[in-house]
Amino acid sequence: METNFTNSYADITRATAYAKLDFPGTYYLAFRDLPELIENFTPKGQAIDFGCGAGRSTRFLQSLGYETTGLDISAEMLALAHQLDKQGQYRQIEDGRLNGVQSNHYELILSAFTFDNISTVEKKTALFREFYRVLKAGGCLINLVSSPELYINDWVSFQTTCFPHNFTARTGDLVNTIITDTDDPRPVDDELCTDADYRNIYTDAGFTLLKTHKPLATGKEPIAWVNETRIAPWTIYVLKK
Ligand SMILES: C[S@@+](CC[C@H](N)C(=O)[O-])C[C@H]1O[C@@H](n2cnc3c(N)ncnc32)[C@H](O)[C@@H]1O
Repeated sequence: METNFTNSYADITRATAYAKLDFPGTYYLAFRDLPELIENFTPKGQAIDFGCGAGRSTRFLQSLGYETTGLDISAEMLALAHQLDKQGQYRQIEDGRLNGVQSNHYELILSAFTFDNISTVEKKTALFREFYRVLKAGGCLINLVSSPELYINDWVSFQTTCFPHNFTARTGDLVNTIITDTDDPRPVDDELCTDADYRNIYTDAGFTLLKTHKPLATGKEPIAWVNETRIAPWTIYVLKK
């Protein structure tokens, strides 16, 4: 299916529902291993949270000791981020570039779920080139995205198998989810990007891929997992400039 793409998060109802999310269910697995991954590859310093939304991932990075600026294109999300973290640094950017962001300055960029919502390989590549520009030499980029498998299985926090087009989607195609952990039941529009295509994008932008991590539940957590113990819902790429 061809994508006629809009940012699902440029919407006050969605933003308000998303702002109440902490790290429930399937989301827990996205954040569980990040501290170790980040600390293994990045010294403390200045960080960017790209696609910070309502600031959940920004506050998370701050709690790890990184001086973090949250960047997003959605005014609705940023207003909530400011509200939830009055001392925090959050800024609206233009779609597709890091306007006003200093070159060769940052130790770390985290992008948590943002590339699920960014349309076209060309725009993704342009943004990775921007990340390359603003990171210090040796700086680390963590790109946390939905695995392609997320869209064809059901999960504690998502329904996806009710969308037949998800099963035939290729890179660039629209895929949908319903986030069951929020009180907004409307489908979220994502754009599929395969592992192979992400790797091409990283190479085109000049990055070295250090690690690809696919977090699984152990089965010992107090959560009634659906598929999370045998299929990884998320892919976490660790990249170096
Ligand atoms: C799924 S939310 C994740 C928010 C946050 N990282 C978190 O974990 O809570 C994705 C965010 O990416 C933002 N986004 C989408 N396209 C973007 C772009 N081109 N540049 C920056 N942010 C973008 C959306 O507005 C939304 O706030």
